[in-house]
Amino acid sequence: MRDVAVVGVGETAFGEHWEKSLRDLSVAAGVAAIRDAGIEGADIEAMYIGNMSGGRFAGQEHLAALAADQSGLVGIPSTRVEAACASGGLAFRQACLAVASGRYDIVIAAGAEKMTDLQTVDVTTTLMGAGDQEWEGWLGMSFPGLYALMARRHMYEYGTTKEQMALFSVNGHKNAVLNPNAQFRFEITVEDVLKSALVADPLRLLDCSPITDGAAAVIVASKDIAKKFKNPIWLLGSGQATDALALHDRKSLTSLRAAKIAAKQAYKQSRTVPEKIDVAEVHDCFSINGLIALEDLGFCGVGKSGKFIEEGNIKRGAAVSINTSGGLKAKGHPVGATGVSQIVEIVKQLRGDAKKRQVHADFGLTHNVGGSGATVVVNILGKDPIER
Ligand code: COA
Repeated sequence: MRDVAVVGVGETAFGEHWEKSLRDLSVAAGVAAIRDAGIEGADIEAMYIGNMSGGRFAGQEHLAALAADQSGLVGIPSTRVEAACASGGLAFRQACLAVASGRYDIVIAAGAEKMTDLQTVDVTTTLMGAGDQEWEGWLGMSFPGLYALMARRHMYEYGTTKEQMALFSVNGHKNAVLNPNAQFRFEITVEDVLKSALVADPLRLLDCSPITDGAAAVIVASKDIAKKFKNPIWLLGSGQATDALALHDRKSLTSLRAAKIAAKQAYKQSRTVPEKIDVAEVHDCFSINGLIALEDLGFCGVGKSGKFIEEGNIKRGAAVSINTSGGLKAKGHPVGATGVSQIVEIVKQLRGDAKKRQVHADFGLTHNVGGSGATVVVNILGKDPIER
C-alpha cells in the first residue's frame, strides 16, 4: 500500500445555520479544502462523503452525487459513507484507502450534517437509528440514556465521580473559546455542569454534545504528489472495528471493544505508542465517553481516567492535549462531519496552524465513535512519513 498525506483542510463554522442548507454546508467545506490545498477542482479524482441521516434530518438522500455536482466536480465517482457518528472518520479512511491502493492520486474526503431544522425529539429519534432499534429504540432508549448506563457502570466499578466527568466538559469549553469555528465559545465550571438540567441521570445538559449543523473536508494525496505540497501531514496508521449494536450484547459497559481493536491496529501500523501521541481529538459525545476514550486509547490505565483528568493531564500542553478544538461537547457534533473535522484539527496542530490553541505536536490521533460504540475509527497522523 502507498503512503498517503493530507494536503488541504477546510470546514464551516459549527452551530445553527438557519440560512444554509445541507448542500451549502458541504460545498463551503469542500471549496475551503480545495483552496487550502491550492489545487483546482479538476485535480480531484474521487469523493467520499460521510453523512449519517441526510434523509431524516434534511429530507435529502443521494448526497454524494449532489455534493459532487454542486461543488463543480460533476462526473467524478462520489460515494456516501454511513457509520452513524463515525461516518466522517470512515469517509476519511475510505479516501485514504482509495489513494493507498493506487487507484487514485488526489481524493476529497468530506462530512456534512444539518440537524437543527428538526425538533429535539425528532433529532433524538433519528439518532437512535444508530442503536439497536428492535431491542433499544422501540423500548424508549435514547443515546443520552445509553451513555448514562455506561456512566453509572463506570462509577460503580471504578468510583468515577460526576465531578471528574464534568472536568472533561470544562476542558472542551476552555479550548473552544480559542476556536472561531466552535459552537459554544464560553468557559464553564464544574459547578455549572453539576447545576445544569438533568438529561439522563447522571448525565446533565453540560455533559452532552449539542445538536449541530456543519461540514468539513480534507484533500488526500499519494506520496509522490504530496511531496510537492508545502506542509503535507501523513497518515501513519488507521484502524476500524465493529462491536454489537446493543449494549446488552457487549462484554463490557465501561470500555469500547471496537475502540481498543481500532487503536491497536493504528498504533501498530504507525509504529507509535500512546505515550508518543501529543494531541488527540476524542469522541466525547457525552462526557463519560471522553473518559472511556482515554482508557481505551491507552493514555491512562483502566478505571483511572477520572484521576488522570483531575491531575491536569488532558489540558493543552499537558501529557496529551485532548480536544484542542473544543471536542464534540463545545465545538459541536454535526454527526456525519465530526470525524473529518477531527482530522482538520489534528492537521492544523501538526502543521503549526492552530493559532492560539497551538500545542507542540509531532504525532496526533483521532477517535471517532459510531452510535454507542458499534463502529470505531482511529487514525494516527504525523509530520513525516514512516521510513520503510
Ligand atoms: N451544551 C450546552 N448548551 C446546550 C446544549 C449542550 N449540549 N444543548 C443545548 N444547549 C443550550 C442551547 O444553546 C439553549 O441555550 P439558550 O437558551 O441560551 O439559547 C438551551 O441550552 C436550550 O436549548 P435546546 O435546543 O432547547 O435544548 P434541548 O433540550 O432541545 O436539547 C439536548 C438538549 C441535551 C437534549 C440535546 O443537545 C441533545 O440531544 N444532545 C445529544 C445529541 C446526541 O445524542 N448526539 C449523538 C451522540 S451519540
